[in-house]
Amino acid sequence: MIKFAPRASFTKPAALVLLTSEQAKAAKFTSSVNPVAAAVNAALGSGRFEGGKGEVLPLLVGKCLVVLFGVGKEKGLTMASLRVLVRRALMFGYFRKAADIELVPHKDEAAVIRAVMDAHLLGTYAWKKYITRKKDDKTVDNKTLHIAAAEKAEYGRIARVAACANFARDLVNENADVTNAEYLEKTVRGVLKGKSGFSLEVLGPRELKQKKFGLLLAVNQAASKEPRVVIVRYNGGKKGEPYTAVVGKGLTFDSGGLNLKPSGSMETMRCDMSGAAAVIGALKAAFELKLKKNVIFAFGAVENAIDANAYKPGDVFISYSGKTVEIGNTDAEGRLVLADVLSYVIARYKPARVVDLATLTGACVVGLGNDYAGLMSNNDGLAAEVLASAEATDDRAWRLPMYPELKDMIKSKIADIKNTSNQRGAAGTMTGAAFLQSFVGETPWAHLDIAGTAFVDGDSRMYFGHGATGYGVRLITDLLEKS
Ligand code: BES
Ligand code: ZN
Ligand code: ZN
Repeated sequence: MIKFAPRASFTKPAALVLLTSEQAKAAKFTSSVNPVAAAVNAALGSGRFEGGKGEVLPLLVGKCLVVLFGVGKEKGLTMASLRVLVRRALMFGYFRKAADIELVPHKDEAAVIRAVMDAHLLGTYAWKKYITRKKDDKTVDNKTLHIAAAEKAEYGRIARVAACANFARDLVNENADVTNAEYLEKTVRGVLKGKSGFSLEVLGPRELKQKKFGLLLAVNQAASKEPRVVIVRYNGGKKGEPYTAVVGKGLTFDSGGLNLKPSGSMETMRCDMSGAAAVIGALKAAFELKLKKNVIFAFGAVENAIDANAYKPGDVFISYSGKTVEIGNTDAEGRLVLADVLSYVIARYKPARVVDLATLTGACVVGLGNDYAGLMSNNDGLAAEVLASAEATDDRAWRLPMYPELKDMIKSKIADIKNTSNQRGAAGTMTGAAFLQSFVGETPWAHLDIAGTAFVDGDSRMYFGHGATGYGVRLITDLLEKS
């Protein structure tokens, strides 16, 4: 939880003070009666603390631990690096355990406060369900951060969206065998419970067969679990106003199929439904923020498993759209699932524009790393809007080119199109996107390849710990609100 008070109280068991190098040396707090404020002033005046980036000076005043924490020069301090710095401070052992922390930002400015909020709400999130020896450290769930700043209405929005991102993270972090397609459907039903202004369409195995989702069903062929396509039509806007469709890849586990992934590449593949999780997180945010827009939230949830029924490389399947697809590699399954869901959503709901989120290619991780999603689009206007929201929310994205020749790389000799490139290793992220593009037609469409950004495999990255990042919830919510 986060609480605001315009001035620092210095009465909490622990206080964290952020300072810039320019202001660090000047005594800052007027109350010399309060022993904590007096000690901080003395420390600031002592010349022992410069406020340099990452510089730390702990003080113990009675029972109160104060840590002066430098953020460096204000000029050139990005809000992303502020998020990283504040998270680092909040992860210090003592603060980790404290149920109450007071934080005095170096500046009472909306961008700074939002960064501090993200650092706390997203930065201290941890997935601990399966740790039986619970340490007494308090994560975002059970600690209160008191920020010495004037409260603003937009902060409530930031907190809600962060909670929805964490909701998505829980879905990704949970065991793949738990978060199966049926579970994701139930999760959506849970989000919708008690709400109005929407309609829900759920396609199970029977409907999917009857409607001929040939690609999606091929991927799920060897799974012991049922597939689902879940579509929520959210009617927050006026009647007749256009719909934006947000579509997620929901591979509840991606073993690679018969083109089995090697050890080292499979262990994190419960993250392959991160696109669907982002869609669910954004759906939850839409209700919580009472979003005044019309939106289609959709995902296809299947498992890419292996057994004797597994779909086979070299075989051809007929998509929902009627286009036939040769399977070059069973591990390029996400585009198959998305192709069917995208063409169905476009045909049935006729959205004015579509954004999809998918952990689609390892090539995207190679090319852009883990801090930028790949953005590909057939529409410059939509791409610009997505990039603006990426910038505003720090769910970063970088646009990659889409050009006609990419189509030549996914030609098949025995079908209309192939799910892999004929030029192995070249432009893998864009050929994946080109495959999707051939199923969206003229509809303005933006594709976010989140293979690198959705999940942290390791200690931490930026301001995220190990596991799911909730990538996309902030970006999509901002995009829907703004346009
Ligand atoms: N789910 C993977 C992509 C992925 C890789 C997500 C790393 C997260 C982290 C996807 O289904 C896949 O395996 N793609 C293949 C495509 C290839 C066979 C054309 C890949 O990237 O190797
Ligand atoms: Zn795969
Ligand atoms: Zn996959």
